[in-house]
Amino acid sequence: MDYTQVAREYGTPLYVYNLDYMAQQYAALKGAFEGKKSLIAFAMKANSNLSVVACFAALGAGADCVSFGEVKRALIAGVPKYKIIFSGVGKRDDEILGALTEDILFINVESEAELMRVEAAARELGRAARVSVRVNPAIDARTHPYISTGLKENKFGVSVEVAKRLYIYAKNSPFLEPIAIHFHIGSQIVELEPIEQAARKAAELAKSLIALEIDLKFFDVGGGIGVTYKDEKTIDLAAYANTVFGALQGLDMTIICEPGRFLTANGGVFLTRVIYEKYSEGRRFVVVDGAMNDLIRPALYGAYHRVEAIGAAGDETLCDVVGPVCESGDFFAKNIVLPPIERGDLLVVHTAGAYGFAMSSNFNTRRRAAEVAVDKNGYRLIRERETYEDIFASEMRLLSAR
Ligand code: LLP
Repeated sequence: MDYTQVAREYGTPLYVYNLDYMAQQYAALKGAFEGKKSLIAFAMKANSNLSVVACFAALGAGADCVSFGEVKRALIAGVPKYKIIFSGVGKRDDEILGALTEDILFINVESEAELMRVEAAARELGRAARVSVRVNPAIDARTHPYISTGLKENKFGVSVEVAKRLYIYAKNSPFLEPIAIHFHIGSQIVELEPIEQAARKAAELAKSLIALEIDLKFFDVGGGIGVTYKDEKTIDLAAYANTVFGALQGLDMTIICEPGRFLTANGGVFLTRVIYEKYSEGRRFVVVDGAMNDLIRPALYGAYHRVEAIGAAGDETLCDVVGPVCESGDFFAKNIVLPPIERGDLLVVHTAGAYGFAMSSNFNTRRRAAEVAVDKNGYRLIRERETYEDIFASEMRLLSAR
C-alpha cells in the first residue's frame, strides 16, 4: 500500500483500513469453528465505521453492540436484526425499548435490576424479550487491568449463583425468554487457559440450566482474542476452537464469538505527518499532527504501537513521538529509535484498526480524522474529515446573541 499517495489525497491525520485483511481474519476464525454451528458477531466498539461493519455484514457476520447507537449502526450497515446482540452494564430504558422494538437476537443482561427493566419493557410492548445472562466466571484473563473483565471485583456480569437464579426467574416470566449464556473475561488475551476455565464454568452452568428445561440455544464466548502489537505470541485459532468444542461436549448449542480487536487491529494504520522536530534538555521530540484525541491507547494504557517513518534513512537515534495536545500523556511512542526526519515526513502508527478512531474525541477542538478503506479494487474515503462547522453545529444554534 502506498501510504504517501492516500495521505496526499486525503490529508493527515488519517486512518487507513485494509478490508481484505479484515475479511481474511473473519474467514480464519469462522473456518476454525467449521463443523459446528457458529456466529461471529463483530464487536463494533473496536471499529464502528459503517463501511467496516458493512464489510463484515456482507461476509455473514453479526454484531455485538454496547449501546443503542451501535445497534442502529449495525442495522444501517446491513447486519440482519437476528444477528445483533446488545450487551453492557448500564442500558437505559429507552435503549432496552429500542432493542426490543428492533427485535434483535437477544439482550445480554448484566444484573438482576436490569433483568427487571427488560421484563418491564417487554411487558409494555406485550411480547417476550429474548435474553442472555452475562456470567462473571471469576477468572483472571492475565491482561491489562483496564481491559480485564472477568474478575470477581469487576463491574461486569453476575456470579454463577446469581445467574442461575436469574435464569429460573426468566423461565417463569411470560415476558422473558432466556436463550443464551454469555461470558467475556477480558481483551487482548494471549493465553488459552483462562478462556478454557471460563468456558468450562459457563458450560457447566448451561448444562444445569438445560436440566431445568431452560432451552438455551447460544453459547457466547465473548471476544478478547489478542493480537500482535510488538512481539506477543497469540492464541492459535484451531486450539481456541477446540477448547470451546471441548467445553461444549454434550451440548447442542450455537457458538457465538464476539471478536473486535482480532478482526480489525492489524488491518488498520494511523498516518500522521511530522510538524517539527525539537530538542529539549538533550531529548529528541518528533512532533506530529496526530494526537491522543485520535489514538488514545498509548496515553490510556501505556500501549505499544510500532511507529515507522516512511522514506526516512540514516543513523537512528532515540526519540519520543508526540502530538500537539496540552498533556504529557499525548504521545504515540517513547524511547524509540527513528532515522533523521524532516518536516512533512509521514509516520505510520501500526495496529491501529481497533480502538483507534472509535475512541477518538474532539479534545482541544481538534477535528476527528478521516478514514480510508483499501481492498483489492483500490482505495476510497469511508469517513470525511470532520469540519469545524460539524464540531460547532450543536452549539452554534444555542449561542445567544451578545
Ligand atoms: N464482547 C464484550 C462483552 C466486550 O466487552 C468486548 C470488549 C468485546 C466483546 C471485544 O473484545 P476484543 O475482541 O476486541 O478484545 N479499549 C480497549 C479495549 C476495551 C475492550 C472492551 N470490551 C483497548 O484499546 O485495548
